[in-house]
Formats: sequence, structure tokens, C-alpha cells
Amino acid sequence: MTSATIYSRITGTGSYLPTNKLTNADLAARLAKDGIETSDEWIVERTGIRNRHFAAADQSASDLALPACVSALQAAGKVAGDVDLIICATSTPDMIFPSTAAILQHKLGQFFEKKEQVAGINHAQAATKSIAGCPAFDVQAVCSGFVYALTVADAMIKTGGAKCALVVGSEVFSRILDFKDRTTCVLFGDGAGAVVLEASSEPGILASELHADGKHVGVLCVPGTVNGGQILGDPLLKMDGQAVFKLAVGVLADVARSVLAKAGKTEADIDWLIPHQANIRIMLGTAKKLKMSEDKVIVTVADHGNTSAASIPLALDHGVRSGQIEKGETLMLEGVGGGFTWGAVLLTL
Ligand code: ACO
Repeated sequence: MTSATIYSRITGTGSYLPTNKLTNADLAARLAKDGIETSDEWIVERTGIRNRHFAAADQSASDLALPACVSALQAAGKVAGDVDLIICATSTPDMIFPSTAAILQHKLGQFFEKKEQVAGINHAQAATKSIAGCPAFDVQAVCSGFVYALTVADAMIKTGGAKCALVVGSEVFSRILDFKDRTTCVLFGDGAGAVVLEASSEPGILASELHADGKHVGVLCVPGTVNGGQILGDPLLKMDGQAVFKLAVGVLADVARSVLAKAGKTEADIDWLIPHQANIRIMLGTAKKLKMSEDKVIVTVADHGNTSAASIPLALDHGVRSGQIEKGETLMLEGVGGGFTWGAVLLTL
């Protein structure tokens, strides 16, 4: 007896951005108070970033993830009790432990039980089953985190370990920025993006590939740690921008080609490239290497900045809700970041 192949497919997307939006001019004014110079012109020319959103002081990664997940569940026609796996990609977790995913699971349960509003979102359907009890864990792969999390969820669904997964990237990078370092603090923002990934008889995720090379730990890191109740080392983000640039451009086109080969596809089969939104020059450079035109790249970096693990699902949700991306199209999602980590997922929506 042969059993039918199980695939995994994205059935809903959602995202959330904190309401506090800072333009480059706002940030320049903030830095100027410490005698640090930057300008809208410099930031736009080098990175493509014009705005970013910063979380309020009392908002954590799970708080940003909650409305993104509610929105993705609504798009998929699901309620919290349908979810049997939660994977949260974050490098800015609520606590050292437990995982942000476990905290999020509880908040989702409360939201669906109490039918309260979250970030202006109402929902019509009450929970019939509890979300409590499903596996929930975090993935820490910095800006590649969402691609890592999606690949793990895909594998769990294909091997029968889950049927309806919530995969979310959520970050509050504003908490780990050094506002005395103009070379890094202008680049990042906060936000969350989520997808519902369900078991399906039709192919959704076609192929994926993940990589890490720990010899590059120092090029992008937050070196501090907690020891004996004290912070040891610097708890703020450090980056060698030019080294990151070279590493990123080098690996992104290669991993995309490798994933295409695994799926038996070519560059011409990609309808949309959804790269990690780090820097417009890296993104368009990758598109060029893949012989894709710039208008086939989903770009949100101008308005979101670099939201690390949240950037790809934020861009995906933006593309879907703006009507750019349509059901049935083929998407190449690509992440690259600290570790050094990188990876790609090819899927049909
Ligand atoms: N405003 C004004 N001037 C600045 C700023 C700023 N915010 N930051 C740096 N400068 C100055 C520097 O001090 C330097 O001045 P100098 O020539 O007098 O010494 C000059 O600008 C050029 O500095 P570089 O570091 O050489 O600038 P570069 O062209 O490399 O651009 C950048 C810097 C944007 C960080 C670039 O290296 C880059 O895009 N790197 C990729 C890193 C990235 O995208 N990281 C995101 C996180 S990692 C990830 O998500 C994968």
C-alpha cells in the first residue's frame, strides 16, 4: 500500500509594525543630540532605508508576534486551537527562557478565548479547541531565522509531526542598537511577520537549503552575555558592514541557484524574489545575478528598515496584501545574517 505524499503549503500571511514610525530625519535629530551626524541622503543612498518602526517600551517580541499571527490565522480561516506547532524566529526574545514561542502560545490562547481586540484586529470565530499543549520553540539564526524556521516546519509537516504550523519572525532590534554608532543604528527596525503552513496534497514548499559558517561570528554579533546576574561583554550590536556586504552578495545567488536545481526549476520560473530586507544594494545585486528584473523583487526595506528575522514574512505579507503576489505564483525567499547564516526556500503560494 502506498501512502499519499504530504506537502506543506502557506495558507495565510500576516504582519504587524509598531505604531512609532521614525523617518531618517527623526533619527538624525535624535543622534544630533549626542553630537553624532547622519543624514537622510547618506542613509537612502547607501541602504535604501527611509523609515523604520520602533516598539513601545512595554512591547516585547511576543507582543509584536501576536497580531501578526492573528492576522495570518484569519487569512487562513483558522483559529488558535487549529494550530499544532509554533516556531518563532527571533534574536531579541522576551526572556532568556522560556521561548518567545511558548509565551506567544499562551497569548494566542488568551486572545481567542477572551475575544479581545489585538492591535485593532477583531475576530469572529471563538476557539473550540485549546492551543495549549502544541510544541512551541524558538529558532535563532538572526536574519536567516525565518527561512530556517520555515524549513523546519516544512520538514515536520512532511514527516507527519504537524498539520497546521504557525511560523513567525518577530524582532525588537531597537533594544540592542548602539545609538552612539551611526554605522549600525540607522539600519534596523522592529516588526513581526507570520505565516500559517498547512499539510496539503498539493506542493507548496518545493525545495529549501540552509547554511551556517561559524568562523564569521565576529562580523555581526551582540557579544554580551549574562553571567552571575551581570551582563558580561557588550550587549549592543556590532557589525563590520563591508564584510557583511561581501559575504551576503557572495552566498545569496549561489543558494538560490542550488535550491532551484533541487526543485528542477530555473531562474525564469521565479515570479517573485523575496529577499531579507537588509540593504537595497544587496537585494538588487542578487536579483541581477539571478537575471531577474528589479520589478520582480518585493522591496519593503525603505519603510521597514532591516527587521532581521521578521523582514521576509513582513515583505511576503506586504506583497500578498498589496495584490502584487497572487495565489499560484512561485516565490524565492532568501535569508542571510549573523552566524554567518544563509538559506533559501522556493515555494508555490
Ligand atoms: N551617516 C553618515 N555617515 C556615515 C554613516 C551614517 N549613518 N555611517 C557611516 N558613515 C560614514 C563612515 O564614517 C565613513 O566615513 P569616512 O569615509 O569619513 O571614514 C563613510 O560613511 C563610509 O563608511 P563605510 O562603512 O565605508 O560605508 P559603506 O559604503 O560600506 O556603507 C553600510 C556602510 C551601509 C553598512 C554597508 O557597508 C552595507 O550596506 N553593508 C551591509 C551590511 C548590512 O546591510 N547590514 C545589515 C545587517 S546584516 C544583515 O541583515 C545580513
